[in-house]
Parts: sequence; C-alpha cells; structure tokens
Amino acid sequence: MEALEAIKTRRSIRQYKPDPIDDKTLQTVLEAARWAPSWKNTQCWRFIVVRDSSIKTGIANCLIKSKRGDTLVDNAGSRAIIQAPILIVACAELGKSGLNAGVFATDKGDWYMFDVALAMQNLVLAAQAMGLGTVHLGLFEAKKVAEILGVPEGFCVVSMTPLGYPDQEPRTVPRKELSEIVFYDKFGT
Ligand SMILES: Cc1cc2nc3c(=O)[nH]c(=O)nc-3n(C[C@H](O)[C@H](O)[C@H](O)COP(=O)(O)O)c2cc1C
Repeated sequence: MEALEAIKTRRSIRQYKPDPIDDKTLQTVLEAARWAPSWKNTQCWRFIVVRDSSIKTGIANCLIKSKRGDTLVDNAGSRAIIQAPILIVACAELGKSGLNAGVFATDKGDWYMFDVALAMQNLVLAAQAMGLGTVHLGLFEAKKVAEILGVPEGFCVVSMTPLGYPDQEPRTVPRKELSEIVFYDKFGT
C-alpha cells in the first residue's frame, strides 16, 4: 500500500477479531516505529508488547471515561484492548529529548511526547498497510499503567494501541478543510 493511501484510509479501530498476529508481522510493525525520527536521534521511546490477557484487562481498567453532558461514557479503547490479541504500550525515557549540551534547548521543555508520537504514527501506518487495525489511546491513568507494567523511574507511559485484525469498518470522521488550518506567510492569513 502506498504511504498516502495508508494515511488516508487509516481509521481508529475499536472492534477486533481474536485472530493472532504472527511474529514476523509484529516485528515489521515495530521496525516501522524504530525508524521514526527523533530529537538528535535520542530514541527516548520504549515499547511494551502485551499479550497476557490478565495484564491487558488490568490496563483496560485504567482507561478514563469520557464526559458527554452529565453522563460518563466508557472509553471504547477498553473493550478494544481486551479484544485485540496484542496491546502495544509506548513509554518514554524522560529528560533525553529536547536537550542541547545537557539542558533543555527550547521553551518547549522535554520533547518526549513529540518523539513517541512520531514513532507511534509510523507503527500505526505500517499496521494499516498490512491490514491490521490500531487506535491511538491517550485517555488513561498513566501512573497506574506504569505500575502494572513495572515501568521504572525516569520513564513514563505516553500512549498505547491495540493491534489486531479489524472487526468493523468505521465511518470516516471528517477533517477541517485546508483553508481553515493552513495559513500563508502569517498566522490567520
Ligand atoms: C493522542 C490521541 C489520543 C487518543 N485517545 C483516544 C482514547 O483514549 N480513546 C479512543 O477511543 N480514541 C482515542 N483516540 C482516537 C481519536 O478519537 C481518533 O483518532 C479521531 O476521532 C479521528 O478518527 P480516526 O482516527 O478514525 O480518523 C486518540 C487519538 C489520539 C491522536
């Protein structure tokens, strides 16, 4: 699949078949993450591949519900984590990205979120190209997930995605028009 096609056809998948993923496919998807660019090539990311269903259930319980008006709605990611054969959890080593000569070089502090996002999007697009589904998940209690996974001090859990064969064809969620989000020469013009 062409890169542009993978970008445009990818959708967040929240329903999965139980079919397993073979090791070669998993390695290909992880390789795509490994080749992402990062601040001064520091590669602060770490990935935990979770297959154990009791660990997956524990993590699924760390997802935070959404507020819709006065009601709380389950995070659809919880069910997806339980259904999919694999969960990939992205962690970051803190205090590595965004540094120059040992100190944070910009007024944006630690760039770990940016680096991990690049790697996770590579992974998600590689998965899409191979017929696999994913959904970036961010609405969860990161410290609880870190505890479950034994993530050491100096690292944090940034995001995660289930990985599996899709059991749905979600509708395309619309995007803003380019005219709303792209400016030329100055902001707003
Ligand atoms: C940083 C980030 C965090 C997200 N967290 C969640 C989440 O916790 N639960 C969920 O169901 N979807 C989550 N999503 C998926 C978005 O809702 C989804 O990407 C968006 O609605 C666009 O739909 P699409 O991915 O199908 O194009 C997250 C996406 C991103 C990029």
